[in-house]
Amino acid sequence: DNKMIKLHEAFSDQFLIGAAVNAKTLKTQRELLIRHFNSLTAENEMKFERLHPAEDRYTFEEADRLIAFAKENNMGVRGHTLVWHNQTPSWMFEDASGGAVNRETLLSRMKDHIETVVSRYKGTIYGWDVVNEAVADSGNELLRSSKWLDIAGEDFIAKAFEYAHAADPAAILFYNDYNESAPEKREKIYALVKSLKEKDVPIHGVGLQAHWNLEHPSIDDIRQAIERYASLGMMLHITELDVSVFNHEDRRTDLLAPTAELMERQAERYRQFFELFRAYSEHITSVTFWGAADDYTWLDNFPVYGRKNWPFLFDQEHQPKQAFWDVVKFA
Ligand code: XIL
Repeated sequence: DNKMIKLHEAFSDQFLIGAAVNAKTLKTQRELLIRHFNSLTAENEMKFERLHPAEDRYTFEEADRLIAFAKENNMGVRGHTLVWHNQTPSWMFEDASGGAVNRETLLSRMKDHIETVVSRYKGTIYGWDVVNEAVADSGNELLRSSKWLDIAGEDFIAKAFEYAHAADPAAILFYNDYNESAPEKREKIYALVKSLKEKDVPIHGVGLQAHWNLEHPSIDDIRQAIERYASLGMMLHITELDVSVFNHEDRRTDLLAPTAELMERQAERYRQFFELFRAYSEHITSVTFWGAADDYTWLDNFPVYGRKNWPFLFDQEHQPKQAFWDVVKFA
């Protein structure tokens, strides 16, 4: 009976199958999550601004609820994310009079945040995106400009990994980024991770966000990225997989439901991706979608597209799409 197939069971010999969730989807997608997924990531609930809105105040309620849900249902949790240029409150970078903090203060605040959060979920969260999106997309600079970089200098990255490792030596620690398969950025990510390894920084993996679409990136670019990162001895996690049915060139605003043609092309892309993940399952130990079903995605009304999107294996009624069947057939 096809109805008995569970996504995570189909891949139990290869990798965990994860979904990003939020307070709402934990309720609205509850049955689907329990049935098909064995790993969860907080879409926003473990980001800096949500856990630590003021220097002397931590707010763990939503994150704790997610952890409890995962435990009740025997799911793992990936932690996302400790150090990022987005969704970090401005107090972090300011002193009492509203001026910029100095390097020592910023690093000691970062240490406090990482120690507090990582040790709270020690033994429960199996891996952390310690640093998210620090590499520049293009240009000559390796790192993107940010308050972290401007105030603390480039070793804020190494320090973040050291603090996280001290707080939970068993957690696997990731550098996570998008455009991870584009050759130019791939080489920068490679260079960053290589230099961290050479300094004996406790980094164990590279997170490939995998916000992909019907055309980009090419399978060949993805394969080369996987091989390049794996060549550093890094474990690989696919951390935020979704397959947008639109791209920057496609500005159609009139599409109110997915066409059969788009869904077929999406299924073919998913089939190719999972074929690749499976071939590299020695390195890839977790594949997380940035959501679970088409009733909710962060890509809905995304600024450049401005309309609904349908990026997952399950439709808006939580029924398996063609892409689902193509992917599990392949497992
Ligand atoms: C996104 C969330 O999905 C949105 O709800 C939020 O408004 C912005 O952040 N890369 C990441 C994720 O690492 O944290 C982002 O999540 C998507 C891009």
